[in-house]
Amino acid sequence: MKALVEEKTYPILSNRVLLNRASYDGGFLGVVYFPAGGKKIHINEHLSTVLDYCTGKRTVESVLNSLARKYHEPKVSLKEPLVQILDTLEKEDIISMRDGTEPQAKMKIPPVLKTPYPLHTVNLELTAECNLKCMHCFGKFGNGHFEELTLEEIGDLAKQLKKLQVYEVALSGGEPLLREDFFEIAKVFVKDGVAVGLMTNGSLVDEQMADNIARAGINSVGVSLDGVRSDTHDPFRGVRGSFQKTMKGIQLLHDRGMRLKIYTVLNRMNSGEMKALLELYRRLDATYSVSRTLTRGKPRENKHLLFSVKEFPRFYEKFLVAEEVVFRGEGSRIKEGGREELAQRPVEERARCHAGVHTLNIRPDGAVTPCASLIEPEFVMGNIRDNLVEDIWLEPEGTVNQIRELRAIEIEKCADCRFLDQCGSGCMACAYLEKGTILAPDLGACAKMEGSKSFFRKSGVRRF
Ligand SMILES: C[S@@+](CC[C@H](N)C(=O)[O-])C[C@H]1O[C@@H](n2cnc3c(N)ncnc32)[C@H](O)[C@@H]1O
Ligand code: SF4
Ligand code: SF4
Repeated sequence: MKALVEEKTYPILSNRVLLNRASYDGGFLGVVYFPAGGKKIHINEHLSTVLDYCTGKRTVESVLNSLARKYHEPKVSLKEPLVQILDTLEKEDIISMRDGTEPQAKMKIPPVLKTPYPLHTVNLELTAECNLKCMHCFGKFGNGHFEELTLEEIGDLAKQLKKLQVYEVALSGGEPLLREDFFEIAKVFVKDGVAVGLMTNGSLVDEQMADNIARAGINSVGVSLDGVRSDTHDPFRGVRGSFQKTMKGIQLLHDRGMRLKIYTVLNRMNSGEMKALLELYRRLDATYSVSRTLTRGKPRENKHLLFSVKEFPRFYEKFLVAEEVVFRGEGSRIKEGGREELAQRPVEERARCHAGVHTLNIRPDGAVTPCASLIEPEFVMGNIRDNLVEDIWLEPEGTVNQIRELRAIEIEKCADCRFLDQCGSGCMACAYLEKGTILAPDLGACAKMEGSKSFFRKSGVRRF
């Protein structure tokens, strides 16, 4: 590898990755995202600096010269670290090495943004229409009272998101596959280099639809499945026959090699099926998320479906922890609200949640909110029909700045809690819905932590 510097070798950023890099007072956050497998790698500032030179037009020696000038260091002391960094980047498939005989197209490296709040992902609610009548749905979906964003408006949005280095947009709803222009919408994001995820109830996925999804360049498909039998899934989803259709949809997508993520909302009807669900996720080689029910919208009318906070710890311990559902499922990490991006910072500097910090939600009429679960007028940051996303993100209306500045340790009860590092003070929307303020702990997360004690002990976390 050391001979690299002497040889005519040209490092070039892979065209299979997307970059999101941001620097701010005293900090740096860099993410390399692989749309094909959904893998994310966090990079430090040194790796990022080297990446700036990986255009395919410069030899390793020329990179070394530039670094020596930039850091005012002799070349000889930078040679070894540079070779190591290039080696790491190459091993991770972030760059490749050209030998100089190939055509020399230049790779455009996106700039490092100047913000403490780099935007990584966006949830886009394409419609409020829905073909199901779920007993737990938090949205006022199914009555189509929104004036939906047009394809043209969404095309403009895609360009704005690309400029902000957003690496993935999730197309959701309501039921996004009800939009007649769904595949044209997916195309505008794919064309602009923003990876596309689809979030669907799966019941509209027949052979034709599955073919179209597989051909559209969609990166991953999230499908909601709330049981392993019609008896559990159908009543919860409010439409008889939806289980058969959704299972068929899942199988058709699986047959076409789509990357699947199954979303299950835990409730009294399906709580006995966790083992069977887990087997199904594994058979499909799908990542999964088993989440609690957020008490917004329909669950308020269907309280009998919900577990009480008192029952939760035991339930977690007995089923979810024992079966490792909580720890293996991608979205059900034990680190409540502590996604990797937040966990890059020490707990005392950590925001409570990634909502409004690294992600945002766009409602069917263009209103921007920190997430799909915080939608009250006080959380509306602006509307993409009135302003650029960049301006809304940098200078939001409403109380999102409060969310951004809120640290998990500022929440009474959480500050002294032994679970704080694992929990990060839970879900803000849950706290808000329970107590009317985002400054409260999330009682569901407390219950989850309590039920997970045996797991912590088993994993060697001493204080448990
Ligand atoms: C709002 S739906 C939109 C996409 C599509 N219609 C579907 O059902 O997958 C997105 C996800 O939110 C979940 N969801 C809806 N209401 C919820 C609630 N009250 N608590 C937790 N998750 C909820 C759904 O189960 C689904 O997995
Ligand atoms: S959860 Fe999804 S499928 Fe069910 S009513 Fe809500 S939007 Fe429709
Ligand atoms: S377990 Fe409860 S009190 Fe402890 S950090 Fe989480 S939300 Fe706060």
